Amino acid sequence: MPLTRILVADDEESMRWVLSKALKRKGFTVDLAHDGRQALELIKDNCYDLAILDIKMPGINGLDLLDKVRELKNDLLVVIMTAEASMKNAVEAMKRGAYDYITKPFDLDVIDAIIEKVSRAREIAGQVSSLKQELKERYQVEKNIVGNSPAMREVYKTIGKVAVSDVTVLIQGESGTGKELVARAVHFNSGRLGKPFVAINCAAIPRDLLESELFGSEKGAYTGAGERKQGKFEQANHGTIFLDEIGDMPLDLQAKILRVLQEQEVTRIGGNQNIPVDVRIVAATNQALVEKVRQKEFREDLYYRLNVVPITLVPLRERRDDIPDLAQYFLERSCAEMSVHSKRLTDDAVTLLSAYSWPGNVRELENTIKRAVILSNDPLLTPHDFEGLTPAPDLPQKGSQEESLESLVDMKLRSSMVGVEKLDKGDIHAMVLEQVERPLIRFILEKTRWNQVKAADILGINRNTLRKKITELGIELKRD
Ligand SMILES: Nc1ncnc2c1ncn2[C@@H]1O[C@H](COP(=O)(O)OP(=O)(O)OP(=O)(O)O)[C@@H](O)[C@H]1O
Ligand SMILES: [Mg+2]
Repeated sequence: MPLTRILVADDEESMRWVLSKALKRKGFTVDLAHDGRQALELIKDNCYDLAILDIKMPGINGLDLLDKVRELKNDLLVVIMTAEASMKNAVEAMKRGAYDYITKPFDLDVIDAIIEKVSRAREIAGQVSSLKQELKERYQVEKNIVGNSPAMREVYKTIGKVAVSDVTVLIQGESGTGKELVARAVHFNSGRLGKPFVAINCAAIPRDLLESELFGSEKGAYTGAGERKQGKFEQANHGTIFLDEIGDMPLDLQAKILRVLQEQEVTRIGGNQNIPVDVRIVAATNQALVEKVRQKEFREDLYYRLNVVPITLVPLRERRDDIPDLAQYFLERSCAEMSVHSKRLTDDAVTLLSAYSWPGNVRELENTIKRAVILSNDPLLTPHDFEGLTPAPDLPQKGSQEESLESLVDMKLRSSMVGVEKLDKGDIHAMVLEQVERPLIRFILEKTRWNQVKAADILGINRNTLRKKITELGIELKRD
Protein backbone atom coordinates (compact mmCIF):
# COMPACT_ATOMS: atom_id res chain seq x y z
CA MET A 1 0.00 0.00 0.00
CA PRO A 2 2.45 2.72 -1.03
CA LEU A 3 1.37 6.31 -0.73
CA THR A 4 0.51 7.62 -4.22
CA ARG A 5 -2.42 10.07 -4.44
CA ILE A 6 -2.54 13.24 -2.43
CA LEU A 7 -5.11 16.03 -2.26
CA VAL A 8 -4.03 19.54 -1.30
CA ALA A 9 -6.74 22.08 -0.37
CA ASP A 10 -5.89 25.70 0.31
CA ASP A 11 -7.44 28.97 -0.77
CA GLU A 12 -4.02 30.56 -1.13
CA GLU A 13 -2.73 30.01 -4.61
CA SER A 14 0.97 30.30 -3.72
CA MET A 15 0.56 27.62 -1.08
CA ARG A 16 -1.10 25.22 -3.54
CA TRP A 17 1.65 25.90 -6.04
CA VAL A 18 4.53 25.25 -3.60
CA LEU A 19 3.06 22.09 -2.17
CA SER A 20 2.05 20.69 -5.52
CA LYS A 21 5.52 21.25 -6.93
CA ALA A 22 7.28 19.68 -3.95
CA LEU A 23 5.03 16.62 -3.88
CA LYS A 24 5.05 16.06 -7.62
CA ARG A 25 8.83 16.16 -7.60
CA LYS A 26 8.69 13.24 -5.18
CA GLY A 27 6.61 11.30 -7.65
CA PHE A 28 3.15 11.67 -6.11
CA THR A 29 -0.01 12.33 -8.03
CA VAL A 30 -1.43 15.58 -6.67
CA ASP A 31 -4.91 17.13 -7.03
CA LEU A 32 -5.62 20.67 -5.93
CA ALA A 33 -8.72 22.31 -4.47
CA HIS A 34 -9.16 26.02 -3.86
CA ASP A 35 -11.86 25.77 -1.24
CA GLY A 36 -13.56 23.31 1.09
CA ARG A 37 -16.48 22.56 -1.20
CA GLN A 38 -14.28 21.63 -4.13
CA ALA A 39 -12.13 19.51 -1.81
CA LEU A 40 -15.21 17.65 -0.62
CA GLU A 41 -16.33 16.91 -4.18
CA LEU A 42 -12.88 15.60 -5.08
CA ILE A 43 -12.75 13.42 -1.96
CA LYS A 44 -16.16 11.98 -2.78
CA ASP A 45 -15.16 11.06 -6.31
CA ASN A 46 -11.58 9.89 -5.80
CA CYS A 47 -9.52 7.58 -3.70
CA TYR A 48 -6.79 9.60 -2.02
CA ASP A 49 -4.17 8.20 0.29
CA LEU A 50 -3.65 11.50 2.05
CA ALA A 51 -5.41 14.89 2.22
CA ILE A 52 -3.58 18.03 3.32
CA LEU A 53 -6.26 20.58 4.24
CA ASP A 54 -5.97 24.19 5.23
CA ILE A 55 -8.05 24.94 8.29
CA LYS A 56 -9.23 28.33 7.13
CA MET A 57 -11.00 28.17 3.79
CA PRO A 58 -14.12 29.86 2.45
CA GLY A 59 -17.21 27.69 2.14
CA ILE A 60 -16.48 24.74 4.34
CA ASN A 61 -13.57 25.19 6.70
CA GLY A 62 -10.98 22.49 7.38
CA LEU A 63 -12.51 21.26 10.63
CA ASP A 64 -15.98 20.77 9.20
CA LEU A 65 -14.44 19.14 6.17
CA LEU A 66 -12.62 16.79 8.52
CA ASP A 67 -15.93 15.73 10.06
CA LYS A 68 -17.37 15.07 6.61
CA VAL A 69 -14.32 13.01 5.66
CA ARG A 70 -14.79 10.90 8.77
CA GLU A 71 -18.33 10.17 7.67
CA LEU A 72 -17.51 9.51 4.03
CA LYS A 73 -14.07 7.96 3.97
CA ASN A 74 -12.98 6.97 7.40
CA ASP A 75 -9.67 5.50 6.19
CA LEU A 76 -8.41 8.67 4.55
CA LEU A 77 -5.51 10.20 6.45
CA VAL A 78 -5.89 13.95 6.93
CA VAL A 79 -3.19 16.47 7.79
CA ILE A 80 -4.43 19.91 8.79
CA MET A 81 -2.54 23.13 8.10
CA THR A 82 -3.06 25.89 10.61
CA ALA A 83 -1.55 29.24 11.50
CA GLU A 84 0.78 29.31 14.46
CA ALA A 85 -1.49 31.73 16.26
CA SER A 86 -4.37 29.26 16.47
CA MET A 87 -3.00 26.21 18.23
CA LYS A 88 -6.44 25.63 19.70
CA ASN A 89 -7.58 24.65 16.24
CA ALA A 90 -4.79 22.13 15.93
CA VAL A 91 -5.85 20.45 19.14
CA GLU A 92 -9.45 20.41 17.97
CA ALA A 93 -8.39 18.89 14.64
CA MET A 94 -6.53 16.08 16.36
CA LYS A 95 -9.55 15.43 18.54
CA ARG A 96 -11.72 15.13 15.48
CA GLY A 97 -9.46 12.51 14.01
CA ALA A 98 -6.80 14.34 12.00
CA TYR A 99 -3.68 12.25 11.56
CA ASP A 100 -1.36 15.23 12.19
CA TYR A 101 -1.12 18.99 11.79
CA ILE A 102 1.46 21.45 10.52
CA THR A 103 1.73 25.10 11.40
CA LYS A 104 2.18 27.74 8.77
CA PRO A 105 4.61 28.95 7.64
CA PHE A 106 6.62 25.78 7.27
CA ASP A 107 9.77 24.49 5.58
CA LEU A 108 9.44 21.82 2.96
CA ASP A 109 11.39 19.56 5.37
CA VAL A 110 8.29 19.47 7.52
CA ILE A 111 6.27 18.17 4.58
CA ASP A 112 8.94 15.54 3.90
CA ALA A 113 8.81 14.40 7.51
CA ILE A 114 5.01 14.13 7.42
CA ILE A 115 5.05 12.15 4.19
CA GLU A 116 7.66 9.83 5.65
CA LYS A 117 5.53 9.29 8.76
CA VAL A 118 2.36 8.66 6.78
CA SER A 119 4.15 6.16 4.53
CA ARG A 120 5.41 4.26 7.52
CA ALA A 121 1.98 4.23 9.17
CA ARG A 122 0.44 2.86 5.99
CA GLU A 123 3.09 0.21 5.76
CA ILE A 124 2.43 -0.88 9.34
CA ALA A 125 -1.33 -0.84 8.73
CA GLY A 126 -0.71 -3.12 5.74
CA GLN A 127 1.40 -5.45 7.83
CA VAL A 128 -1.21 -5.58 10.56
CA SER A 129 -3.94 -6.49 8.13
CA SER A 130 -1.84 -9.23 6.55
CA LEU A 131 -0.91 -10.49 10.02
CA LYS A 132 -4.58 -10.60 10.86
CA GLN A 133 -5.20 -12.60 7.73
CA GLU A 134 -2.33 -14.92 8.59
CA LEU A 135 -3.66 -15.46 12.08
CA LYS A 136 -7.06 -16.23 10.70
CA GLU A 137 -5.57 -18.76 8.35
CA ARG A 138 -3.44 -20.26 11.07
CA TYR A 139 -6.52 -21.00 13.09
CA GLN A 140 -8.77 -21.94 10.25
CA VAL A 141 -10.62 -24.92 11.52
CA GLU A 142 -10.31 -26.77 8.22
CA LYS A 143 -6.55 -26.43 8.03
CA ASN A 144 -5.29 -26.68 11.56
CA ILE A 145 -7.53 -28.95 13.45
CA VAL A 146 -7.19 -32.41 12.07
CA GLY A 147 -9.57 -35.31 12.51
CA ASN A 148 -12.72 -36.45 10.86
CA SER A 149 -14.21 -38.70 13.53
CA PRO A 150 -17.84 -38.11 14.50
CA ALA A 151 -16.68 -36.62 17.81
CA MET A 152 -14.42 -34.10 16.05
CA ARG A 153 -17.09 -33.23 13.52
CA GLU A 154 -19.33 -32.28 16.44
CA VAL A 155 -16.54 -30.03 17.69
CA TYR A 156 -16.20 -28.25 14.34
CA LYS A 157 -19.91 -27.71 14.15
CA THR A 158 -19.96 -26.16 17.58
CA ILE A 159 -16.96 -23.91 16.86
CA GLY A 160 -18.77 -22.68 13.77
CA LYS A 161 -21.98 -22.05 15.63
CA VAL A 162 -20.51 -20.18 18.57
CA ALA A 163 -18.09 -18.14 16.46
CA VAL A 164 -20.54 -15.37 15.63
CA SER A 165 -21.92 -14.94 19.13
CA ASP A 166 -20.30 -14.09 22.42
CA VAL A 167 -21.53 -17.10 24.38
CA THR A 168 -19.29 -18.57 27.02
CA VAL A 169 -17.69 -21.83 26.03
CA LEU A 170 -16.41 -24.57 28.33
CA ILE A 171 -13.95 -27.01 26.79
CA GLN A 172 -13.43 -30.29 28.58
CA GLY A 173 -10.98 -33.03 27.75
CA GLU A 174 -7.98 -34.94 28.99
CA SER A 175 -4.55 -33.38 28.82
CA GLY A 176 -3.23 -33.00 25.29
CA THR A 177 -6.56 -33.41 23.51
CA GLY A 178 -6.39 -29.97 21.92
CA LYS A 179 -8.33 -27.73 24.32
CA GLU A 180 -6.14 -24.69 23.78
CA LEU A 181 -6.15 -25.20 20.03
CA VAL A 182 -9.95 -25.22 20.05
CA ALA A 183 -10.09 -22.17 22.34
CA ARG A 184 -7.93 -20.25 19.87
CA ALA A 185 -10.06 -21.46 16.99
CA VAL A 186 -13.14 -20.09 18.73
CA HIS A 187 -11.46 -16.70 19.13
CA PHE A 188 -9.80 -16.45 15.72
CA ASN A 189 -12.98 -17.38 13.93
CA SER A 190 -15.06 -14.87 15.83
CA GLY A 191 -15.75 -11.18 15.36
CA ARG A 192 -13.11 -10.61 18.03
CA LEU A 193 -10.33 -11.55 15.60
CA GLY A 194 -7.68 -8.84 15.73
CA LYS A 195 -8.49 -8.11 19.35
CA PRO A 196 -6.47 -9.72 22.15
CA PHE A 197 -6.59 -13.41 23.00
CA VAL A 198 -5.30 -13.61 26.56
CA ALA A 199 -4.63 -17.01 28.10
CA ILE A 200 -4.11 -17.68 31.77
CA ASN A 201 -3.39 -21.03 33.34
CA CYS A 202 -5.19 -21.05 36.67
CA ALA A 203 -3.34 -24.16 37.85
CA ALA A 204 0.14 -22.79 37.28
CA ILE A 205 -0.11 -19.64 39.41
CA PRO A 206 -0.25 -19.43 43.23
CA ARG A 207 -3.57 -18.20 44.58
CA ASP A 208 -2.56 -14.70 45.66
CA LEU A 209 -0.77 -13.99 42.46
CA LEU A 210 -3.65 -15.42 40.44
CA GLU A 211 -6.04 -12.87 41.85
CA SER A 212 -3.90 -9.89 40.90
CA GLU A 213 -3.06 -11.46 37.55
CA LEU A 214 -6.76 -11.74 36.74
CA PHE A 215 -8.10 -8.52 38.16
CA GLY A 216 -5.05 -6.25 38.40
CA SER A 217 -3.99 -4.21 41.40
CA GLU A 218 -3.64 -0.62 42.46
CA LYS A 219 -0.33 0.82 43.54
CA GLY A 220 0.55 -0.42 47.03
CA ALA A 221 -2.53 -2.65 47.24
CA TYR A 222 -0.57 -5.25 49.18
CA THR A 223 3.00 -5.78 50.28
CA GLY A 224 5.12 -6.08 47.21
CA ALA A 225 2.59 -4.43 44.92
CA GLY A 226 4.59 -1.81 43.07
CA GLU A 227 2.97 0.18 40.33
CA ARG A 228 -0.68 -0.08 39.32
CA LYS A 229 -1.14 -3.23 37.26
CA GLN A 230 -3.76 -4.12 34.69
CA GLY A 231 -5.30 -7.55 35.09
CA LYS A 232 -5.82 -10.12 32.35
CA PHE A 233 -9.50 -9.23 32.08
CA GLU A 234 -8.61 -5.64 31.28
CA GLN A 235 -5.90 -6.74 28.87
CA ALA A 236 -8.40 -8.93 27.08
CA ASN A 237 -10.90 -6.08 26.67
CA HIS A 238 -12.89 -6.48 23.42
CA GLY A 239 -11.18 -9.83 22.92
CA THR A 240 -11.26 -13.25 24.51
CA ILE A 241 -9.88 -14.49 27.82
CA PHE A 242 -8.96 -18.16 27.97
CA LEU A 243 -9.22 -19.46 31.54
CA ASP A 244 -7.23 -22.64 31.29
CA GLU A 245 -7.51 -25.30 34.02
CA ILE A 246 -10.46 -23.49 35.54
CA GLY A 247 -11.09 -26.56 37.73
CA ASP A 248 -8.12 -25.52 39.84
CA MET A 249 -9.45 -22.09 40.60
CA PRO A 250 -9.89 -21.46 44.36
CA LEU A 251 -13.51 -21.07 45.50
CA ASP A 252 -13.25 -17.43 46.53
CA LEU A 253 -11.86 -16.46 43.15
CA GLN A 254 -14.62 -18.43 41.49
CA ALA A 255 -17.06 -16.02 43.13
CA LYS A 256 -15.17 -13.10 41.63
CA ILE A 257 -15.17 -14.63 38.17
CA LEU A 258 -18.90 -15.11 38.49
CA ARG A 259 -19.24 -11.42 39.25
CA VAL A 260 -17.30 -10.47 36.13
CA LEU A 261 -19.61 -12.68 34.10
CA GLN A 262 -22.71 -11.11 35.61
CA GLU A 263 -21.70 -7.49 35.83
CA GLN A 264 -19.19 -7.23 33.01
CA GLU A 265 -16.85 -5.25 35.21
CA VAL A 266 -13.76 -5.79 37.33
CA THR A 267 -12.29 -4.10 40.38
CA ARG A 268 -8.54 -4.05 40.82
CA ILE A 269 -7.19 -5.30 44.14
CA GLY A 270 -6.93 -2.32 46.47
CA GLY A 271 -9.13 -0.28 44.16
CA ASN A 272 -12.73 0.84 44.51
CA GLN A 273 -13.48 1.72 40.94
CA ASN A 274 -15.54 -0.65 38.80
CA ILE A 275 -13.90 -0.95 35.42
CA PRO A 276 -16.22 -2.10 32.63
CA VAL A 277 -14.84 -4.92 30.51
CA ASP A 278 -16.17 -6.45 27.32
CA VAL A 279 -14.63 -9.90 27.30
CA ARG A 280 -15.64 -13.24 25.91
CA ILE A 281 -14.80 -16.11 28.21
CA VAL A 282 -13.58 -19.47 27.03
CA ALA A 283 -12.67 -21.86 29.84
CA ALA A 284 -11.05 -25.27 29.79
CA THR A 285 -10.47 -28.08 32.22
CA ASN A 286 -9.14 -31.60 32.20
CA GLN A 287 -11.08 -32.50 35.33
CA ALA A 288 -14.65 -33.68 35.61
CA LEU A 289 -16.21 -30.39 36.70
CA VAL A 290 -19.58 -31.99 37.46
CA GLU A 291 -17.79 -34.17 39.97
CA LYS A 292 -16.11 -31.12 41.51
CA VAL A 293 -19.50 -29.44 41.77
CA ARG A 294 -20.82 -32.52 43.55
CA GLN A 295 -17.91 -32.36 45.99
CA LYS A 296 -18.58 -28.65 46.53
CA GLU A 297 -15.15 -27.76 45.21
CA PHE A 298 -16.57 -25.89 42.26
CA ARG A 299 -19.45 -23.43 42.44
CA GLU A 300 -22.53 -24.77 40.80
CA ASP A 301 -23.73 -21.34 39.65
CA LEU A 302 -20.38 -20.64 38.00
CA TYR A 303 -20.42 -24.06 36.37
CA TYR A 304 -23.73 -23.32 34.69
CA ARG A 305 -22.64 -19.83 33.71
CA LEU A 306 -19.51 -21.19 32.05
CA ASN A 307 -21.06 -24.26 30.56
CA VAL A 308 -23.43 -22.39 28.26
CA VAL A 309 -21.93 -24.20 25.33
CA PRO A 310 -19.82 -27.22 26.19
CA ILE A 311 -17.23 -28.66 23.87
CA THR A 312 -15.93 -32.09 24.78
CA LEU A 313 -12.71 -33.37 23.31
CA VAL A 314 -12.75 -37.12 23.63
CA PRO A 315 -9.48 -38.95 24.32
CA LEU A 316 -7.55 -39.94 21.23
CA ARG A 317 -7.91 -43.64 22.04
CA GLU A 318 -11.66 -43.25 21.62
CA ARG A 319 -11.35 -41.72 18.16
CA ARG A 320 -8.67 -43.89 16.68
CA ASP A 321 -9.91 -43.16 13.17
CA ASP A 322 -8.25 -39.75 13.55
CA ILE A 323 -4.80 -41.20 14.23
CA PRO A 324 -3.65 -41.80 10.63
CA ASP A 325 -4.63 -38.27 9.57
CA LEU A 326 -3.05 -36.68 12.62
CA ALA A 327 0.13 -38.74 12.18
CA GLN A 328 0.40 -37.65 8.55
CA TYR A 329 -0.25 -34.02 9.49
CA PHE A 330 2.43 -33.99 12.19
CA LEU A 331 4.85 -35.82 9.92
CA GLU A 332 4.55 -33.18 7.22
CA ARG A 333 4.73 -30.38 9.75
CA SER A 334 7.78 -31.80 11.55
CA CYS A 335 9.65 -32.34 8.30
CA ALA A 336 8.90 -28.79 7.20
CA GLU A 337 9.82 -27.30 10.58
CA MET A 338 13.09 -29.18 10.73
CA SER A 339 13.79 -28.65 7.03
CA VAL A 340 14.31 -32.33 6.34
CA HIS A 341 13.22 -34.15 3.18
CA SER A 342 9.70 -35.43 3.39
CA LYS A 343 9.23 -38.83 4.94
CA ARG A 344 6.52 -41.43 4.73
CA LEU A 345 4.94 -43.75 7.27
CA THR A 346 4.68 -47.39 6.28
CA ASP A 347 1.28 -49.04 6.63
CA ASP A 348 2.64 -51.12 9.50
CA ALA A 349 3.76 -48.00 11.29
CA VAL A 350 0.31 -46.44 10.90
CA THR A 351 -1.26 -49.64 12.24
CA LEU A 352 1.03 -49.56 15.25
CA LEU A 353 0.29 -45.89 15.94
CA SER A 354 -3.42 -46.54 15.59
CA ALA A 355 -3.34 -49.35 18.12
CA TYR A 356 -1.47 -47.51 20.86
CA SER A 357 -3.46 -46.05 23.77
CA TRP A 358 -1.99 -42.49 23.75
CA PRO A 359 -2.44 -41.53 27.40
CA GLY A 360 -0.94 -38.13 26.50
CA ASN A 361 -3.37 -37.84 23.59
CA VAL A 362 -2.62 -35.69 20.54
CA ARG A 363 0.34 -33.98 22.18
CA GLU A 364 2.01 -37.36 22.77
CA LEU A 365 1.38 -38.36 19.17
CA GLU A 366 2.85 -35.08 17.95
CA ASN A 367 5.98 -35.54 20.08
CA THR A 368 6.36 -39.18 19.05
CA ILE A 369 6.30 -38.26 15.37
CA LYS A 370 8.71 -35.38 15.93
CA ARG A 371 11.15 -37.63 17.75
CA ALA A 372 11.00 -40.23 14.98
CA VAL A 373 11.65 -37.58 12.34
CA ILE A 374 14.70 -36.37 14.24
CA LEU A 375 16.14 -39.79 14.92
CA SER A 376 15.56 -41.53 11.62
CA ASN A 377 17.75 -40.97 8.57
CA ASP A 378 15.53 -43.01 6.34
CA PRO A 379 12.72 -41.55 4.20
CA LEU A 380 10.48 -44.38 5.40
CA LEU A 381 9.30 -44.54 9.02
CA THR A 382 8.61 -48.13 10.07
CA PRO A 383 7.36 -49.68 13.35
CA HIS A 384 11.02 -49.95 14.22
CA ASP A 385 11.12 -46.14 14.55
CA PHE A 386 8.36 -46.27 17.15
CA GLU A 387 9.80 -48.79 19.54
CA GLY A 388 8.35 -48.56 23.01
CA LEU A 389 4.77 -48.05 21.87
CA THR A 390 2.89 -51.11 23.02
CA PRO A 391 -0.53 -51.54 21.52
CA ALA A 392 -3.38 -51.10 23.94
CA PRO A 393 -6.13 -53.63 24.39
CA ASP A 394 -8.85 -52.90 21.91
CA LEU A 395 -11.60 -52.00 24.31
CA PRO A 396 -11.16 -48.84 26.33
CA GLN A 397 -11.63 -49.02 30.08
CA LYS A 398 -15.27 -49.33 30.96
CA GLY A 399 -15.31 -46.26 33.18
CA SER A 400 -13.85 -43.93 30.61
CA GLN A 401 -16.11 -45.22 27.89
CA GLU A 402 -19.12 -44.45 30.02
CA GLU A 403 -17.76 -41.07 30.93
CA SER A 404 -17.13 -40.04 27.37
CA LEU A 405 -20.57 -41.23 26.30
CA GLU A 406 -22.10 -39.24 29.09
CA SER A 407 -20.28 -36.10 28.07
CA LEU A 408 -21.06 -36.58 24.39
CA VAL A 409 -24.76 -36.90 25.14
CA ASP A 410 -24.58 -34.03 27.60
CA MET A 411 -22.99 -31.85 24.95
CA LYS A 412 -25.68 -32.68 22.41
CA LEU A 413 -28.48 -32.00 24.86
CA ARG A 414 -27.05 -28.71 26.05
CA SER A 415 -26.38 -27.47 22.55
CA SER A 416 -29.98 -28.10 21.71
CA MET A 417 -31.23 -26.47 24.92
CA VAL A 418 -29.40 -23.23 24.27
CA GLY A 419 -30.51 -23.27 20.69
CA VAL A 420 -27.06 -23.81 19.24
CA GLU A 421 -28.27 -26.90 17.55
CA LYS A 422 -31.57 -28.45 16.64
CA LEU A 423 -31.86 -32.08 17.54
CA ASP A 424 -33.73 -34.40 15.24
CA LYS A 425 -35.64 -37.34 16.58
CA GLY A 426 -33.36 -40.31 17.04
CA ASP A 427 -30.13 -38.30 16.68
CA ILE A 428 -28.83 -39.15 20.10
CA HIS A 429 -29.84 -42.76 19.94
CA ALA A 430 -28.07 -43.22 16.61
CA MET A 431 -24.99 -41.40 17.81
CA VAL A 432 -24.69 -43.39 21.02
CA LEU A 433 -25.39 -46.67 19.28
CA GLU A 434 -22.56 -46.04 16.88
CA GLN A 435 -20.24 -45.24 19.76
CA VAL A 436 -20.99 -48.49 21.61
CA GLU A 437 -21.67 -50.86 18.75
CA ARG A 438 -18.30 -50.60 17.12
CA PRO A 439 -16.23 -51.68 20.15
CA LEU A 440 -18.83 -54.26 21.15
CA ILE A 441 -18.93 -55.96 17.78
CA ARG A 442 -15.16 -55.84 17.45
CA PHE A 443 -14.78 -57.35 20.89
CA ILE A 444 -17.18 -60.22 20.23
CA LEU A 445 -15.57 -60.91 16.85
CA GLU A 446 -12.22 -61.13 18.54
CA LYS A 447 -13.54 -63.46 21.21
CA THR A 448 -15.01 -65.73 18.54
CA ARG A 449 -11.77 -65.54 16.54
CA TRP A 450 -13.57 -63.63 13.78
CA ASN A 451 -16.20 -66.30 13.28
CA GLN A 452 -19.18 -64.26 12.11
CA VAL A 453 -21.72 -67.03 12.60
CA LYS A 454 -20.76 -67.44 16.23
CA ALA A 455 -20.48 -63.71 16.80
CA ALA A 456 -23.96 -63.09 15.37
CA ASP A 457 -25.27 -65.82 17.60
CA ILE A 458 -23.75 -64.31 20.74
CA LEU A 459 -24.92 -60.84 19.79
CA GLY A 460 -28.36 -62.21 19.10
CA ILE A 461 -28.57 -60.68 15.66
CA ASN A 462 -28.95 -62.08 12.19
CA ARG A 463 -25.73 -62.91 10.33
CA ASN A 464 -26.60 -60.59 7.45
CA THR A 465 -27.32 -57.78 9.88
CA LEU A 466 -23.91 -58.36 11.43
CA ARG A 467 -22.24 -58.23 8.04
CA LYS A 468 -24.03 -54.99 7.23
CA LYS A 469 -22.98 -53.44 10.54
CA ILE A 470 -19.36 -54.49 10.03
CA THR A 471 -19.34 -52.54 6.76
CA GLU A 472 -21.28 -49.56 8.10
CA LEU A 473 -19.11 -49.19 11.19
CA GLY A 474 -15.93 -49.71 9.20
CA ILE A 475 -14.73 -52.63 11.33
CA GLU A 476 -11.60 -54.18 9.92
CA LEU A 477 -11.80 -57.93 9.78
CA LYS A 478 -8.83 -59.90 11.00
CA ARG A 479 -8.07 -63.59 11.14
CA ASP A 480 -6.18 -65.21 13.96
N1 LIG B 1 -7.10 -32.07 16.32
C1 LIG B 1 -5.85 -31.59 16.30
N2 LIG B 1 -5.27 -31.31 15.11
C2 LIG B 1 -4.01 -30.84 15.07
N3 LIG B 1 -3.26 -30.61 16.14
C3 LIG B 1 -3.77 -30.88 17.35
C4 LIG B 1 -5.10 -31.37 17.49
N4 LIG B 1 -5.35 -31.53 18.80
C5 LIG B 1 -4.24 -31.16 19.46
N5 LIG B 1 -3.28 -30.76 18.60
C6 LIG B 1 -1.93 -30.33 18.95
O1 LIG B 1 -1.54 -31.07 20.11
C7 LIG B 1 -0.87 -30.25 21.06
C8 LIG B 1 -1.64 -30.23 22.35
O2 LIG B 1 -2.84 -29.49 22.19
P1 LIG B 1 -3.36 -28.44 23.28
O3 LIG B 1 -2.23 -27.73 23.93
O4 LIG B 1 -4.40 -27.63 22.64
O5 LIG B 1 -3.99 -29.47 24.31
P2 LIG B 1 -4.65 -29.22 25.75
O6 LIG B 1 -5.88 -30.02 25.77
O7 LIG B 1 -4.74 -27.78 25.99
O8 LIG B 1 -3.59 -29.91 26.70
P3 LIG B 1 -3.33 -29.62 28.28
O9 LIG B 1 -4.53 -30.07 29.03
O10 LIG B 1 -2.14 -30.48 28.55
O11 LIG B 1 -3.05 -28.17 28.41
C9 LIG B 1 -0.72 -28.91 20.42
O12 LIG B 1 0.51 -28.80 19.78
C10 LIG B 1 -1.85 -28.87 19.39
O13 LIG B 1 -1.53 -28.02 18.33
MG1 LIG C 1 -3.81 -26.63 27.48
